[in-house]
Amino acid sequence: MIDLSVNIKGLKLQNPIMPASGTFADGLAEVIDFNRLGAFVTKTFTKEKRAGNPIPRICELDSAMLNAIGIPSKGLEDYIENTVPFYTQYQPPLIASISANTAAEFAILAESLHRVPGIAGIEANISCPNIEANGKAFAIAPETTAQVIKALRNATTLPLWAKLTPNTSDIISVAQAAEAEGCDALVVGNTLLGMSIDIQTRRPNLGNILGGLSGPSIKPVLLRMTYQCFKNVNIPIIGCGGISNTHDTIEYMMAGATAVQVGTATFVNPSTMITIIDELEIWCANHGIKHISELTGSVNDTPFEAYTALS
Ligand SMILES: Cc1cc2nc3c(=O)[nH]c(=O)nc-3n(C[C@H](O)[C@H](O)[C@H](O)COP(=O)(O)O)c2cc1C
Repeated sequence: MIDLSVNIKGLKLQNPIMPASGTFADGLAEVIDFNRLGAFVTKTFTKEKRAGNPIPRICELDSAMLNAIGIPSKGLEDYIENTVPFYTQYQPPLIASISANTAAEFAILAESLHRVPGIAGIEANISCPNIEANGKAFAIAPETTAQVIKALRNATTLPLWAKLTPNTSDIISVAQAAEAEGCDALVVGNTLLGMSIDIQTRRPNLGNILGGLSGPSIKPVLLRMTYQCFKNVNIPIIGCGGISNTHDTIEYMMAGATAVQVGTATFVNPSTMITIIDELEIWCANHGIKHISELTGSVNDTPFEAYTALS
């Protein structure tokens, strides 16, 4: 028997596979067995209702997709009345992804969730590039990351995950700031800011003009950031970005991820996460691994031999 369970700072998951926020919905329960997942991470919601961005909101590209959904939200009350009861009928823990415009608003939302039975943790989406003014997000800089995580930490004792953005020039400082303010885990990470133009109409392919790039194309960037965060913080890292199969999952775990989130690949094949869970067990058995956590950070990054051809 292979033990696929992982521990995210006290929160035990039966396996390391969970959906990425916004790429998963209730209807998928008709296609896959929800009880097999490591956890649920629901679509980011805000305290108040929000309409989201103008259409078109998604655009398909080579080995990637671009989205500018803009976090349409039915608000906190709807989340508590409908989303929480739906997901708590299943075994995997429910992680609520939240967003807000200010650190204070983030804290108010976290405080409200703290009292809701069935919520196992909070994923603070401090990275969404679609809604912040000038495309900036809290997680662009260590100072604003520290500010929002501090407010959130003061507001709740629930497990707190921070979802970081790759659209920063200093992922290590941002990760360290989140850790220093008491964050329990890092999700690394969200989409890369991108753009696409229809050259016939000369119009951008997204109503918001700019959008978030996801899917296989972004994997090397987010894998690199997962590795850098693993080397520089001591809290668990949940890898996310372009994970489409078991190979990608193992790569992320070797780079330092304790668990992973699968996003765009679920749109391609709704069974992707279940296939990965099944195949992970087989891969571990074939490689003499008894506990999946043995993979975390196991990349052999000892220096390569120097290039000596010219000497
Ligand atoms: C259509 C769509 C909607 C998304 N909505 C959210 C969201 O509400 N909150 C969030 O934190 N990330 C959201 N994301 C980002 C994903 O959770 C994930 O971080 C990103 O897509 C990278 O993973 P992937 O390459 O596996 O898709 C969304 C992504 C897509 C494609």
